[in-house]
Amino acid sequence: MKIKIAPSILSANFARLQEDVDSVSNADMLHYDMMDGHFVESVSFGPLVVREIKTLLERWAHLMVEKPEGMLRELDKDNVDGVIIHKEIFMGSGGALPLLKSITGKGLRAGIALNPATNVNLLSKEELEIAHMILIMSVNPGRAGQEFINVSGKIRELRKRYRGMIGVDGGINPETAKICVDAGADVLVSGSFIFRNKEMPPGEAVEKLRLKTTT
Ligand code: DX5
Ligand code: ZN
Repeated sequence: MKIKIAPSILSANFARLQEDVDSVSNADMLHYDMMDGHFVESVSFGPLVVREIKTLLERWAHLMVEKPEGMLRELDKDNVDGVIIHKEIFMGSGGALPLLKSITGKGLRAGIALNPATNVNLLSKEELEIAHMILIMSVNPGRAGQEFINVSGKIRELRKRYRGMIGVDGGINPETAKICVDAGADVLVSGSFIFRNKEMPPGEAVEKLRLKTTT
């Protein structure tokens, strides 16, 4: 299983964002944490910022928003490759399928994120069929730098019935990354360890995560 490292730019320095993006060109994906102040308390950045980022990495937008339709209208193949929506916003409604279809209909890859408290069994067969990635949150979404919640049980359970990418997001460092990879995750989203690391520059932190999970 090829492990993909996905730096989250939420922990980057926005005064020199492009420079920080360039410093992780050895990663596999870029992770955009977009927030609306409703689904989560904070607001981060929107499509206006995303549109200006230049990278050769695969770009994934993680929409921590209550109503993703509006943001989705402003995202396309020019600025992202994949869009992840949260399962929780569909509780009590018809499910995520129609929105996942409108993501793939735009030629983008689709993903579903699950909060730490959301059970993987809530994902329907159809949702799993259409999703390219399931993102298991290992912190409650909303901000960077929180402590890892051990979600290895959920990853294991999901891996039994899902062959697509399983990502894990929140509190990822070499130790927690190993726990997740051993359980079956293959995408590691990491913000603070990569961009706020006092011991090494971002590119080196990417390699450190890679090394720890492939040996
Ligand atoms: C949390 C975000 C994460 C976060 C990860 O709301 O979805 O992507 O930026 O940051 P760290 O690695 O610092 O937990
Ligand atoms: Zn995220």
